[in-house]
Amino acid sequence: MNQLGMEQTLVLIKPDALKNSLTGYVLSQLSEFHTGLRFAATKIVTVSPLLAGEHYAEHVNKAFYPSLLEYITGRVHYPDSPSNRRVIAIVYHGKEAVLKVRAIAGPTNPHTARDTKPGSIRALGTVVPIADESGQIVGDRMDNLIHASATPEEAEREVKLWFRPQDIPARMRLYPVEVNETPYFIEGDTLSTTYRAGLSSVIAPGDIAWSSDLDILREVTAGTAAPEAARLVAAKYLINRNDEEQA
Ligand code: GTP
Ligand code: MG
Repeated sequence: MNQLGMEQTLVLIKPDALKNSLTGYVLSQLSEFHTGLRFAATKIVTVSPLLAGEHYAEHVNKAFYPSLLEYITGRVHYPDSPSNRRVIAIVYHGKEAVLKVRAIAGPTNPHTARDTKPGSIRALGTVVPIADESGQIVGDRMDNLIHASATPEEAEREVKLWFRPQDIPARMRLYPVEVNETPYFIEGDTLSTTYRAGLSSVIAPGDIAWSSDLDILREVTAGTAAPEAARLVAAKYLINRNDEEQA
């Protein structure tokens, strides 16, 4: 939140919502008319395993983590159609944006949403049993249609993970930015400040970047942060870039 009480929150319209043609419904539930919130940014994203892993990093050791990555990368709902594997990522902007969107989204589990918050978006979701190779049910997957940041701190991390500053109109940016002075390239976990074949450009000199991203890149370059920290920054610069980096 800034001095004017403005907040931002990240919404992902997940692959099950796209497959079930619920995009228009979700957008209308979250419209300025209903929420008083405004769009600050939006993009269509084929979610790479890299981006999915960073987004749901807090769940890395949970039993449902592998199925969560399969779900958010679109492999569950579009197993035979990679070009359909995508989410719609949106930044909403306004007072109490996080709380307002979470309330309209409803509880994580669609069954709980139907019981306790009928009318919420996730009340239209499903819980799908997951079987192992022998057919034994070993857990479930919550196909709950949308993601919404849970706290303002999580929102800041997520907005910066999915969007570059220039994806957001300058007057609507809430988090510190600076002009980058160093060329940064990446391949896998390897960050480099000099180009060679096979490397992808992450941020060029003169680009506006989140200050927190540049802090990470400077620390990785100086050897004071682990090389894999650069992945958190690189994920958004590789969005929609190459088929082989996609799901
Ligand atoms: P997101 O908005 O997607 O982050 O959901 P959330 O904030 O309501 O829940 P959380 O961040 O705890 O979990 C992220 C996602 O993991 C959820 O949307 C679910 O799809 C899945 N998930 C969370 N908890 C469970 C669980 O206990 N079992 C299963 N099978 N999936 C879960
Ligand atoms: Mg969450």
